[in-house]
Amino acid sequence: MVEQTQKSHISLDHEKMHAPPEGFFERSTSKPNLADFATYQKMYDQSIQDPATFFGEQAKQTLDWIRPFDQPRFPADKKDDFKNGDLPAWFVGGQINAAYNCVDRWAAKDPNKVAIIYEGDEPDSGRKITYGELLKDVCKLAQALTKLGVKKGDSVAVYLPMIPEAVVTLLAIVRIGAMHSVVFAGFSSTSLKDRILDADSRIVITADESKRGGKTIETKKIVDDALKDCPDVRNVIVFKRTGNSHVPFSPGRDLWWHDELAKYGNYFPPTPVDSEDPMFLLYTSGSTGKPKGVQHNTAGYLLGALLTTKYTFDVHEDDVLFTAGDIGWITGHTYCVYGPLLNGATSVVFEGTPAYPNFSRYWEIVDKYKVNQFYVAPTALRLLKRAGHKYVEPYDLSSLRVLGSVGEPIAAEVWHWYSENVGRNKAHVVDTYWQTESGSHLLCPLAGVTPTKPGSASLPFFGIEPKILDPTTGEELKGNDVEGVLAIKSAWPSITRGIFGDYNRYIDTYLRPYADHYFSGDGAARDLDGFYWILGRVDDVVNVSGHRLSTAEVEAALIEHDLVGESAVVGYADDLTGQAIAAYVSLKKHKLPADADLEAIKKELILTVRKEIGPFAAPKTVLFVDDLPKTRSGKIMRRILRKVLAGEEDSLGDISTLSNPQAVSQIIDVVKTSR
Ligand code: PRX
Repeated sequence: MVEQTQKSHISLDHEKMHAPPEGFFERSTSKPNLADFATYQKMYDQSIQDPATFFGEQAKQTLDWIRPFDQPRFPADKKDDFKNGDLPAWFVGGQINAAYNCVDRWAAKDPNKVAIIYEGDEPDSGRKITYGELLKDVCKLAQALTKLGVKKGDSVAVYLPMIPEAVVTLLAIVRIGAMHSVVFAGFSSTSLKDRILDADSRIVITADESKRGGKTIETKKIVDDALKDCPDVRNVIVFKRTGNSHVPFSPGRDLWWHDELAKYGNYFPPTPVDSEDPMFLLYTSGSTGKPKGVQHNTAGYLLGALLTTKYTFDVHEDDVLFTAGDIGWITGHTYCVYGPLLNGATSVVFEGTPAYPNFSRYWEIVDKYKVNQFYVAPTALRLLKRAGHKYVEPYDLSSLRVLGSVGEPIAAEVWHWYSENVGRNKAHVVDTYWQTESGSHLLCPLAGVTPTKPGSASLPFFGIEPKILDPTTGEELKGNDVEGVLAIKSAWPSITRGIFGDYNRYIDTYLRPYADHYFSGDGAARDLDGFYWILGRVDDVVNVSGHRLSTAEVEAALIEHDLVGESAVVGYADDLTGQAIAAYVSLKKHKLPADADLEAIKKELILTVRKEIGPFAAPKTVLFVDDLPKTRSGKIMRRILRKVLAGEEDSLGDISTLSNPQAVSQIIDVVKTSR
């Protein structure tokens, strides 16, 4: 069971309700996807009362099926959802292909319609890819993969920057019924190796080098380091991004993307897959050190991605959607690749960063391509807000209708900055709460119809039945003005079907903590108006710049350093990154030289984490302590460590039950001196 949630510090102000911007729908040339709030309420009620009929109809209308499904949901009745670890099966008997739904059907309608706008790291580098061109490349790579022996159900590892070839890669893999396992290209070779081994991937698709924020990253070299311990990997397909001649290349194993694609014709038929066949794995952090391969199955995931993109963002075929999240995370999967393409819209794939060559980069892109929906994490908005108004002001930005936020709570002042300075009070700000495991939005306003409150993810999407539970007893806290942990009562189409290779861990993590519910891992409140407020993780997961990390994962990296005896990692509030990582470390005294340079050891420890996980996981603060506070059974009391860091040492509660209460006073001293 989780530690008790702390009473919320967020003000749940039910007075501050904002109506959707006036004239929202008039600013689109397309008919609204949802007429009004009453329509949302009616559809929502249907989706909860009879999910089988609701989603069955949606799936028939919005997806193209190779074989129609016999039953939309089995069992149709949701009363046994999550009992004994059970999940319903969706769209039983149906056969479908993800790539067909994303590409072929739009290419048949208009092959010249732009599917992807690629904006390179350097301004003015990039190109547009039509649905017709996308279909050809996807078909060619699908044939290359087939020729290399990839079969339905196999996993293919993907380690690519944000370039159109990443989209081609994902779609080629699902076209032949295989699973992609994308590893964020900011992960180290060790993390990449762990994921390749866990998913048993035999083929890796990567680039020679990557460009980001004006810097060059040695992508292929990282892959080669990872593959030293992956003897089963047969081939690596390498896209030439920079063309630098010194990039390592092993003839036989390594193949150039352009050579492979040149061998094949423009068309290759999609492989029919069953609705519940796996579509991809995406590794995410949990409360232990070992990352979890979250598995999504085909038809349910596709429907979730399609419907949330359509309704949360009011996306139409003529729209240009710019999701700034990386393809290496779920936001990139669902809202840069699948959601926009399933709706036949245009998706912007941006290789760079919001700060390069200056803080106007996003707004330049928005104006250049007349972006209608923009979607980003608050961490980038905090950076841009801090950089100043002068970087936004010169831009027109009148094409923007929807401004999305994702990955972490958005503070009210950032929400207002976004709405006023970027949206010019005409765009609807939608704060979307969801997870890798949910596949698509859980709590979110629907553009143009749902009133919003800055800082609240508002109301549930269709089919989502949120409950607030008492964290200790697991009892449902009914009515409004309640606070506890967030759980979901019944299954929705895009819920993860499990952790790859470890179904028991899935049950233990999500379905066992609170009987008959899916447990989100987040604390939440429902205010007087019934709006939901996410209060942050209640487990050992930290959220740094919208990147999810487990404290145990960072601790496992630190222990790799020779001098580390023990460590405890906690998150603490940071103005820019939301949360930052603090590592409390006790060093092995017997190995420590008398004249040890502690500052140099700190740097080495940070480097160790960068090397073991990736630069984004580096601790911001390292604190050397003699001992860590523990219960009598040996469990480290992270709650105490968090409180001391937050300056709340006066409210530590009873520490006399610790096995080593004397450790606490030294920790308080160390933290005070570090400030
Ligand atoms: O704690 C919640 C936070 O991010 C977690 C999920 O992380 P991940 O699987 O990496 O997916 C991120 C992109 C969906 C959640 O458990 N989170 C996500 N969105 C929000 C959020 N916290 C507050 N507000 C949000 N809108």
